[in-house]
Amino acid sequence: MADKKSSVTQKGEKVSPSQEFKKQAAIQSLAEYKRLYSESVKNPKKFWNTQAKDLLLWRKPWKQTLKWKEPHAKWFVGGKLNVCENCVDRHLGTARENKAALIFEGEPGDQKTLTYRQLHTEICRFSNALETMGIRKGDRVAIYMPMVAEAVVAMLSCARIGAVHTVIFGGFSSESIKDRVNDCSAKLVITADGGWRRGKIIDLKANVNEALKGCPSVENVITLKRASNRVHMKKGRDHWWHDLVANASHVHKAKAFDSETPLFVLYTSGSTGKPKGVLHTSGGYLLGTTMTSKYVFDLRESDTYWCTADIGWITGHSYVVYGILSNGGTNVIYEGAPNEPGPDRFWSIVDHHKVTIFYTAPTAIRAFMKWGEAHIKKHDLSSLRLLGSVGEPINPEAWKWYHKVIGGGRCPIVDTWWQTETGGIMITTLPGAAYSKPGSAGLPFFGVVAKVFNDAGREVRRGRSGKLVLTQPWPSMLRTLYGDNRRYKETYWSEYDGVYFCGDGCRQDKDGYFWIVGRIDDVLNVSGHRLGTAEIESALVSHPSVAESATVGRPHDIKGSAIVCFVTLKDGYKGNDALKATLRAHVGGEIGPFAKPDEIRFATALPKTRSGKIMRRLLKDIAAGKEIHGDTTTLEDVSVVRQLQEQG
Ligand code: WTA
Repeated sequence: MADKKSSVTQKGEKVSPSQEFKKQAAIQSLAEYKRLYSESVKNPKKFWNTQAKDLLLWRKPWKQTLKWKEPHAKWFVGGKLNVCENCVDRHLGTARENKAALIFEGEPGDQKTLTYRQLHTEICRFSNALETMGIRKGDRVAIYMPMVAEAVVAMLSCARIGAVHTVIFGGFSSESIKDRVNDCSAKLVITADGGWRRGKIIDLKANVNEALKGCPSVENVITLKRASNRVHMKKGRDHWWHDLVANASHVHKAKAFDSETPLFVLYTSGSTGKPKGVLHTSGGYLLGTTMTSKYVFDLRESDTYWCTADIGWITGHSYVVYGILSNGGTNVIYEGAPNEPGPDRFWSIVDHHKVTIFYTAPTAIRAFMKWGEAHIKKHDLSSLRLLGSVGEPINPEAWKWYHKVIGGGRCPIVDTWWQTETGGIMITTLPGAAYSKPGSAGLPFFGVVAKVFNDAGREVRRGRSGKLVLTQPWPSMLRTLYGDNRRYKETYWSEYDGVYFCGDGCRQDKDGYFWIVGRIDDVLNVSGHRLGTAEIESALVSHPSVAESATVGRPHDIKGSAIVCFVTLKDGYKGNDALKATLRAHVGGEIGPFAKPDEIRFATALPKTRSGKIMRRLLKDIAAGKEIHGDTTTLEDVSVVRQLQEQG
């Protein structure tokens, strides 16, 4: 029988950082963390004033730290800064000038390093090119690029001139590009001919061309030559990146912008309707990401940091671009798949570039576990000193494996809980200060007041489950949903009065550690990608054969959640394998290949209550192959359940 004490699933097990790690860390003890945390929540104004002064470069000081008119926050009111100057220019003329800012590795194996000086030159050229194209402060620019250095240049150039970028993940389809571009009326799209993924070229430009048939706001398109695939360029609209920068000056003066100047819109899935455009602004967002990068990743001058997230997601924004560069860090970026050409690609990158901090998602960790240790043992991972996890709860087995096999038992793991909306990390353990409990994200970061509420809006007792809420505004919080203040209010601030509800279920243990159990709304976390079930359902019903559909998640060993869709067909259509394949492809086309359902089940009707509501809980159980307990008497037609179960 297994020894219970060493069971990796045992809740509450504590893993402490080594003395060696502690001694060099920015925050070295739980007492120091607690002292600073208590200052940050007792006198937030004083705390954030000091941090903003210490960590950022301001052109003009602010008059008011926070203006809070629930649910709208303004941070560092009256202050002026330039986000790009903070991330790049301020390192020039210091020892960081010739330090690597970006170390790029393409999937085919090509490599390129940009020092802070070189990154600055590229950004100045590209900023001039954008201005020549007529892009001004406040204009929206869509970026649909592979994970290459130029994508970072594009983002920071937008920030430099005050334009608002909206990065669209390269896995999204033309339909998704169209929706996002139209929602924010982007004037310009920046893309590439193609990007490499699993040895193949993803034809990004073709997707943009298709999308732009329905995007009247777009005036120009800039295309980076990356994969040298044949692309169609439309005269007058399309420009090659290399032509534009060849003619652009490498001198560009960064203007100072108001602290609340919009920095970017990032679309993310919610439980209803189309994706929401989460709006982040300048000063507060940069402070949040700079400060968390410094303390959570315990960044040191000598670190080589690698976050595997794509810039199309918030993690790529906050912890590849803004937070890390603002600290003068060295960032590794990799274009392709983790198993191209072999399942050891990531470890060859860690070994080759001597990565010291590695930040990835549990879904990737579980895939590595499955692929086996032999691929890892081929490489020397002794450069690693800190590991991170983000995107979904990490199961204790995966945590332990990550700690032992990747971290060699010596690297602390920071399990970081946060969201597109929070802008930066909210709950984690500071690596030199606090012990970790495998499976728990840990303690609140400075300035974060997190609580677990019951449905009635009262805090539950420690150990009880409830809904995770944040009760105080924080600098990197979203400001609104682009163009939709009402939806902003409804989505985040209507569950409880004056309190931000994040959509996650949670439990806090007796030590104050938070255990996130995952989404309790209709949002799925599929391989670390956030997807609304409503989006998948609306993609399905846009197919002529589908009358109605309901989508739920089923637990999946590697992906976290698998997508299971229940479909009723219109008269005249037959639910067979060919139609299943067609519908999967259709969803892929409507949203993106990563959203293709894992399973489709046909039924003559969906289980509904007598008032006509689809019984999702029941469908979840059916999808998971669970026996159906509980009351089904409210069901309109019980035979439907049997029909759906039989297809499992
Ligand atoms: C989930 C990604 C448990 C959570 C940064 C959240 C996590 C959603 C963790 C946000 C974690 C993220 N432990 N769950 N460490 N990190 N989540 O907006 O459900 O893509 O609400 O941001 O991911 O996903 P998003």
